[in-house]
Amino acid sequence: MSQSTFELLRDHVRNPRHHGPLEDATIVLEGGNPECGDVVTVYLKIAPDGETIEDVHFTGQGCGVSQAAASLLMERLHQGHWTIGRIAAVDFSLVQDLVGPEAARSRPRCASLALSVLKAAIQKYERERRQALLDTTRGD
Ligand code: FES
Ligand code: FES
Repeated sequence: MSQSTFELLRDHVRNPRHHGPLEDATIVLEGGNPECGDVVTVYLKIAPDGETIEDVHFTGQGCGVSQAAASLLMERLHQGHWTIGRIAAVDFSLVQDLVGPEAARSRPRCASLALSVLKAAIQKYERERRQALLDTTRGD
């Protein structure tokens, strides 16, 4: 891994961005890598429109690559307009872009842990929203 990538990852491990619980999160989800037990929890605040990401934070315990990747992902999600649909559409190329090709290639599970948890959180949100809709349309 290049020196600049190493420095970037190290900076995010030491000073994780958007780190810590979000009190008013719409969805909170913890996910782990079963091979090592490392975990990331995502706190996602979704706007009343049901689409726009208003805020997103994380906490976690694990290897440097997993935690740096989580922090880099949070930073990216605070740039530009992100929606749940846009997140659902991203793939591993975003991870490669965030941590660099070498870390993505050598540590793919670590580097993609936070994105996997984020996507699972969105699926949970959509399931709950569908269920709430069914409950209200079921009638008496
Ligand atoms: Fe709240 Fe992310 S720190 S906008
Ligand atoms: Fe566990 Fe990296 S070694 S996520």
